[in-house]
Amino acid sequence: MMKRQLGQTDIFFPVPAALIVGGTNEEADLATIAWVGMLSSTPPIVGVSFDKRRYTLELIRKTKEFTVNIPSTEYYKETDYCGMVSGRNTNKFEKAGLTPTPGSKIETPIIKECPFNLECKVVQEIQLGDYVLLMGEIVETHIDEDKVEFVNNRPQIDISKTNPLVYCATVREYWELGKKLGNAFQSGKELLNK
Ligand SMILES: Cc1cc2nc3c(=O)[nH]c(=O)nc-3n(C[C@H](O)[C@H](O)[C@H](O)COP(=O)(O)O)c2cc1C
Repeated sequence: MMKRQLGQTDIFFPVPAALIVGGTNEEADLATIAWVGMLSSTPPIVGVSFDKRRYTLELIRKTKEFTVNIPSTEYYKETDYCGMVSGRNTNKFEKAGLTPTPGSKIETPIIKECPFNLECKVVQEIQLGDYVLLMGEIVETHIDEDKVEFVNNRPQIDISKTNPLVYCATVREYWELGKKLGNAFQSGKELLNK
């Protein structure tokens, strides 16, 4: 297959469409953020990249904490709404019918309707062009109890029940995951002795 060169772009896919919450109590706000990913395991650190103008970023900078909430596909319209409207003058939680719920380690709420949630404390901030990369140490992880099983004391998350929303930036489309193909660190073994 021949390749087409697209030049220097910010096209990158697939990514999660995460709902990031900043602030506390009535002041909490949320924004849809696609530029999010794990950066380190020990300690677990997640990176979240905000345009400098975001109100959610302003709130996070005050408390130095945020939560990452992964919506399931049924919430794609609410997720889109939270990515189009600023919370500076609007209560997006109310408008989107999403519920801020207390976490356990920080004051910033998690979102009840999202099956998977991380509580994070900001450990570093880096300016990158017109964006700010926040690095947050994950201090607690939440998963809906009907979407996890414990095998040998290790949590096994049921991905199909969790049904995370996927965003494809270049075409600006929301997708869902397809079917499971195999197990990581296992499926490639048949190529080891080829
Ligand atoms: C699918 C999607 C992904 C987005 N990803 C980002 C992102 O990675 N970083 C960012 O700063 N804004 C991103 N946005 C835009 C913000 O969510 C949007 O500007 C939002 O209104 C900010 O709200 P706030 O001002 O209440 O913080 C995204 C929007 C959508 C719809």
